[in-house]
Amino acid sequence: MSKEMQENMQVDRANEADIQRAYIEKCREYLLDKEKELGRPLTACVNTFGCQMNARDSEKLLGILEEIGYKPVETEDADIVIYNTCTVRENANLRVYGRLGQLHKFKEKNPDMLIILCGCMMQEPEVVEKIRKSYRFVDIVFGTFNIFKLAELIHTRLNTGSQIIDIWKGTDYVLEQLPTDRKYKFKSGVNIMYGCDNFCSYCIVPYVRGREMSRPPIDIIRESERLVADGVREIMYLGQNVNSYGKKLEETEEAKGSQDVTERVTFADLLKELEKIEGLDRIRFMTPHPKDFSDELIETIAASDKVCHHLHLPLQSGSSRILKAMNRHYTKEQYLALVDKIREKIPDVSITTDIIVGFPGETEEDFEDTLDVVRQAKYDSAYTFIYSKRTGTPAAKMENQIDEATVKNRFDRLLATVAEVSHSVSARFEGQVMDVLVEGLDDHEEGLVTGRLKSNMLVHFKGKEELIGQIVQVKLTECKGFYYLGEMIN
Ligand code: 5AD
Ligand code: SF4
Repeated sequence: MSKEMQENMQVDRANEADIQRAYIEKCREYLLDKEKELGRPLTACVNTFGCQMNARDSEKLLGILEEIGYKPVETEDADIVIYNTCTVRENANLRVYGRLGQLHKFKEKNPDMLIILCGCMMQEPEVVEKIRKSYRFVDIVFGTFNIFKLAELIHTRLNTGSQIIDIWKGTDYVLEQLPTDRKYKFKSGVNIMYGCDNFCSYCIVPYVRGREMSRPPIDIIRESERLVADGVREIMYLGQNVNSYGKKLEETEEAKGSQDVTERVTFADLLKELEKIEGLDRIRFMTPHPKDFSDELIETIAASDKVCHHLHLPLQSGSSRILKAMNRHYTKEQYLALVDKIREKIPDVSITTDIIVGFPGETEEDFEDTLDVVRQAKYDSAYTFIYSKRTGTPAAKMENQIDEATVKNRFDRLLATVAEVSHSVSARFEGQVMDVLVEGLDDHEEGLVTGRLKSNMLVHFKGKEELIGQIVQVKLTECKGFYYLGEMIN
C-alpha cells in the first residue's frame, strides 16, 4: 500500500459529510460577497470528457457548486470551469491541453476565475507534473478519489492563493451523501462499484481508477429509492466490470457490520433486489465483462420485467491470439458461444460492443476474425477505437506496434462492416408497438419528441413537452438506420 494511501485512510472520515457541508457554507459566504461586489451572479461550467462514470461524477461536482450558489452555465467564460478529464486514449489528453489555452484567455479577462482539472488524467503523475510546471494558471487539480472535497479545495485555494494539487493514489473511502445535480430528472446513473482489477494489457483504467471496490447493496438500494422518490424512472448501474460485483464485498468493514450481507452477493442478486423497487421502471447496467457473464445473470435478465434487454458486451478483438495478448480471458469461440446463449434466452436482446483496431501485433488475419465476429454477433451498434498506446500499460512495451496507414485502413473497413450489420438488424422491430421513455424535444423538427426504447434505440414521434419523463406506447413506423420514426398510440 502506498504511503499516501495509508495517510488518506488514517484520516477520521466519520463526519466527512458534515465537514464538507461546512466548507460549502464558507464558500457560499465568499460567493455572496463576490456577487455583491460584481453586481451579478457567479457562474460555473462543468465539462465532462469520457465515460458514464465521469458523467455521474460531474453531476456530483455540479451539485456541490450549485449548493455553494453558483449558477450552472454551458459556456466556458464562467467564474468556475471544471474539466472532468478522461485518459483512456491519448487524444483525450491532447484535447484537454489544447482547450486550456482558450481557458487561459478567459481568465485574463476575469482574474477571479477558477480553473479546475480533475478526473482520470489527473491520476497520472506526468500530467500533474506538466500542469505544475507549465500551466500555473490552473487553480486546482484533484483526481478520481476525492471529488467530494471540491468545496474544501476551493476554500483552500481562495485562502492561500496558490495552485492546489490534491491527488490520492487510492482509497477505501467513498462519500455519496453530498448533493448532486442530475442532468435528467427522469433518469440517472448510480455507481455500484469503483475501480478495475482486470488489467487488460492496453488499458490505463486500473492504474487511474484503482482497485475494484463494491458498494454495499443496501447503500445502492437506498440511493436508488431516493432517486425514484425524486422522479427517476430509469437507472443505469455503473461499474468498470459490473459482473464481478460483490467479489470483495465480504471483506469490507461495512459488509462485516451489515446484516444484509452474510455471504457473497452477486450482481444477479443485486439486480433482483433492485427489481423490487416500486416506481423504478427501467434498469440498465454498464459495463459487463464477457469473461464472467454467468448463466445466473442471463436467467435474471431474461426473467426480469425491468432490466432492459440491451447488453453492452465489449469484444475488443475477434482474434483469440490478440485477446490473449490483451489479457481478456476469453477466446473468439467463447465470446460467440456467450452471444448465442444470451440470444437463446433473451431473443429480443440488443447487443452493442467496443472494438479496438491496431493492437500491437494484429495481423490481417486477426483483423478478419474481428470482422467475422461483428457479422456473427449481429451488433446493433459498436463503439470502434483505434488502439492508443498508454504509457505504463503492458501493451505499450510490446513490439510490432502497427503503422498508422494499416490501422486507418482496417478502421475504415471495420466501420463499414459495423454499419452494414447494424443496418440489417436495427429495423427488426419495425411495425411493432413498444414502450418509449420520452427524453426531450426533438432537436431537428418542431412538434416532435425523442425517446428511447428499452433496446436504447432512439425514436422520434409527434408529441408535446409534457410527455418528457413519461413512458408511452409508440408504433415504430419506419427505421431510419440508427433511429425510428413512430406514432404514439395512447
Ligand atoms: N486504446 C484504444 N481504446 C481503448 N479502450 C480502452 N483502452 C484503450 C486504448 N489504450 C477502449 C476499450 C474500452 C473502451 C471504454 O475504451 O474498447 O472498452
Ligand atoms: Fe480497462 Fe479491461 Fe478494466 Fe475495462 S475491464 S476498465 S478495458 S482493464
